[in-house]
Amino acid sequence: MMMLEVVFTISIFVLTSSAEKLSIDGQRVVDQLTKLATFSDHQNPAVTRILFTPNDMMARSYVKELMTSAGLTIREDAMGNIFGRFEGSDATLGSVLTGSHCDAIPLAGMYDGTLGVIGAIEALAALKKAGYKPRRALEVMMFTSEEPTRFALSCVGSRAMSGALTSEYLSSKLDENGTSFLEAANAVGYGSSTYHQLLQDALVPKGKIDYFVELHIEQGPELEKESKDIGVVTAIAAPAALKVEFHGDGGHAGAQLMPLRNDAGLAGAELALAVERHTLATGSVDSVGTTGVFEIKPGAVNSVPREARLGIDIRDIDGVRRDKTVESVRASAKEIAERRNVRHTVTLVNQDPPAICNSDIQTAVAEAAKELGLSTKSMVSRAYHDSLFMARIAPTGMIFIPCKNGYSHRPDEFSSVKDIQQGVHVLALTMAALSGGSWPQDKSEL
Ligand SMILES: *[C@@H]1O[C@H](CO)[C@@H](O)[C@H](O)[C@H]1NC(C)=O
Ligand SMILES: [Zn+2]
Repeated sequence: MMMLEVVFTISIFVLTSSAEKLSIDGQRVVDQLTKLATFSDHQNPAVTRILFTPNDMMARSYVKELMTSAGLTIREDAMGNIFGRFEGSDATLGSVLTGSHCDAIPLAGMYDGTLGVIGAIEALAALKKAGYKPRRALEVMMFTSEEPTRFALSCVGSRAMSGALTSEYLSSKLDENGTSFLEAANAVGYGSSTYHQLLQDALVPKGKIDYFVELHIEQGPELEKESKDIGVVTAIAAPAALKVEFHGDGGHAGAQLMPLRNDAGLAGAELALAVERHTLATGSVDSVGTTGVFEIKPGAVNSVPREARLGIDIRDIDGVRRDKTVESVRASAKEIAERRNVRHTVTLVNQDPPAICNSDIQTAVAEAAKELGLSTKSMVSRAYHDSLFMARIAPTGMIFIPCKNGYSHRPDEFSSVKDIQQGVHVLALTMAALSGGSWPQDKSEL
């Protein structure tokens, strides 16, 4: 009898994979995301949550409450990055960090960023509950201001952590009311006495983070279109943004004869077409160029445009090729301005390198998905994320889940409970694999 019992126990154990040891509640994650969405400047389903506003602060309290309930130890830095830690057994190793953002651009949805925070808390809670013992500490974080809404600067928290932000640059950024980042941070209980100290406090020392993984909705249609469950991100495209202004003399649309004009609007129109031409000229589908802002002044039907302002976004997964496109656009702006006899200025708003995702993380994500019987697709992230900056200081990877019609940054952004549950489960198994810890059964097996 005794013998039989032992055999029985062992066979059960052998059949139990680490995937089956975890209980991930997708509906609970959705309920928490729904609650988080109520902290919004606009009525749901629209979500608007701007850095350090009352709704952002309420969202932060809620995130910390969930971290506490999950048994995580909370720490915040001066920038307002929030961390929840599940300690590992080997303090000489760096952590496995995961996280994303909870701020939302005006009239956005409830999944962008938030999934990678709330879902990650669920993942760590499930690992804890299952008796998983991490070797590398497991940490979940919420980044400060991934969206550029308030200070016209994206990924503020991760730029600071990775050392990609200077005091001069951050202090030059003011919000619509002339408030500086430091004033805004100090007003809500973060901050410091100087920009130097602020950034110093957020800076991550080498060796502190062994891996960084971000769970995110795809924000594009590929996974849904191909009926794939999980996106394994291989690279994050390098973003660059330019502001270009053309200034001419304007004039009356009737009285100013054609040979005498220097029409700033037409210079802008030529440049917008040049952006498209230079982007297509690379011959790669990974090169994208967009003139998303195009304003002319005075903007009257009977007036020759005196001024044109263009906002141009250029991205590529190949940073060198992206830089060449940027240079071609600059050269075109100059050539057009000279030929049309208008003055022009080009301002480089940002020009960040691409990130290549770490292969060990890609493998861990793919294996976790396989263990759960989920299909995967290797893909490029064409939107950028805090991961772009975390890649500068740690091996980095991203996990995508499908979202309906690829919609994002709009109120009808949607991912299903099933896709969320699966994404969180893959994240949990990925983090466990990267942590190198032990499942409770591993001991009883011996
Ligand atoms: C700027 O001031 C206006 C008017 O007081 C206020 O409604 C708005 O929320 C402020 N903006 C920020 C980012 O605090
Ligand atoms: Zn996001």
